[in-house]
This record gives sequence, C-alpha cells and structure tokens, in this order.
Amino acid sequence: MDKLSLCFLVIISLPGVFLQANLSKKAFVFPQDSANSYVTLSAQGQEEPLKAFTVCLRSHTALTRTYSLFSYATKAQTNEILLFRNSPGVYSVSVGGVDAYFNTPESKYEPMHFCASWESSSGIVELWVDGKPMARKSLRKGYTLGEEPSIILGQEQDSYAGGFDINQSFVGDIGDVSMWDFVLSPAEVRAVYNGHNLSPNVLNWQNMKYEAQGEVFVKTQLWT
Ligand SMILES: *[C@@H]1O[C@H](CO)[C@@H](O)[C@H](O)[C@H]1NC(C)=O
Ligand SMILES: *[C@@H]1O[C@H](CO)[C@@H](O)[C@H](O)[C@H]1NC(C)=O
Repeated sequence: MDKLSLCFLVIISLPGVFLQANLSKKAFVFPQDSANSYVTLSAQGQEEPLKAFTVCLRSHTALTRTYSLFSYATKAQTNEILLFRNSPGVYSVSVGGVDAYFNTPESKYEPMHFCASWESSSGIVELWVDGKPMARKSLRKGYTLGEEPSIILGQEQDSYAGGFDINQSFVGDIGDVSMWDFVLSPAEVRAVYNGHNLSPNVLNWQNMKYEAQGEVFVKTQLWT
C-alpha cells in the first residue's frame, strides 16, 4: 500500500470525538471569525420526522455583521431550520428553506435570549427575544422536516455539514441551547427565558452530545 492510500485510510477510520456532558452554567466560546470553527450537536433519538419544534438559546456577541445562531441542515435542505441575524435588529427564522423576518428593538450590549418555534399544522412561526414575543408569522404549512439533521453552532451550512462562510460565522458565546419536538406555550417560553430547563427532548443543554472543531472553548457562562 502506498503512503497516500495509507494516509487516506487513517483519516477515514478516525472515530468522531463526540463528548457527552451536562453543560449547565457553561457556554461555547468562539473567539474569532473563522470558516472552520464550529460545534456539531447530536439530536436525541428522534423516532418521527419533526412536524413542530421550539429551539432556544442564549448568545453574547459584539458582531455587527450577519451571523448564524443555529443551523440545522438535512441532506435535502440546508436551511431546514436556521436562526440568523441579518442586520442590526433583524433576525430571520427559516424552515424548509423559507425565511420569516422579524424586526426587534436592537438590544443593549448584553447576552440575548432567543426562542423560535414552528408547527406544521398552522405554519405559524414565532420568535421570542429576551422573553418577549415578536408578532407571529407563517410559513411552510403542512411541511415535515427531513431526518438525520446536521446541527451546527458557530457556522451557517450551505451544504450538509459544510459550505461555511467566514462572514456568517459566529464570534462570542452561545449557551443554554435546547430544542423540543413541539411548540412551547408562552408560559413555558418565559420559564426557559428565566433559566428553567424543562427537560427538552431533542437537544438538552444539561445532557448534550457534541463535537467541537477548530477554535472553540467551553467556558463558564458570563450570564447565569
Ligand atoms: C467577507 O467580508 C469581507 C469584508 O467585507 C470581504 O472582503 C470578503 O471577501 C468576504 N469573504 C467571503 C468569503 O465572502
Ligand atoms: C446538570 O447540572 C446542574 C448544576 O450542577 C444540576 O442542577 C442539574 O440537575 C444537572 N442536570 C442533569 C440532567 O444531570
């Protein structure tokens, strides 16, 4: 066997280094712009294709450009779920490749909390910022999300688990990431904003399986 094929063999046989941890009070810190630093999250055993979801997280950044907060791609649709900051105060929630835009009062220089939800039966998409609801929108009524998602923090996927753009990378802290396979009630969203865990059944920050690539650090949260 020549050196090149030996090398190839070694690369393809490396196991994924997924870790499982209770990340309570921790955050992923992305210290600089990059097109190769990110964290892959592993969803808990999903029996049925998703027809609804709620995803929540906290972020702290000084970026003024565009950036991705949560990128959930499937093989058929790279923007299966995308939470994205387009410009100051303008966020989009995408489902199945269709975008809904929300104008928020631009926040102070503080960690921000987001919850985005969608349900197939009505197509209603909600975005909550710092525990406050934006006006509801609607998209992709009747749609079903694809299976085997690639869920990435820190980068925006333009292909399945790849196609990263440095100008859409996240710089700063992301934590308290949670995802449910249903739409949380307003009272539940407020509870999550206030720091309650509510045992999320797709992604649980207190029992998270993740794999970090490039420059990413796990640090104690600046917020609590
Ligand atoms: C990122 O943005 C910078 C500054 O606007 C630009 O010069 C560069 O070409 C962009 N890079 C990519 C990969 O789009
Ligand atoms: C994770 O850690 C926090 C703080 O130590 C603790 O309160 C919580 O019960 C833990 N969660 C799980 C699921 O073990």
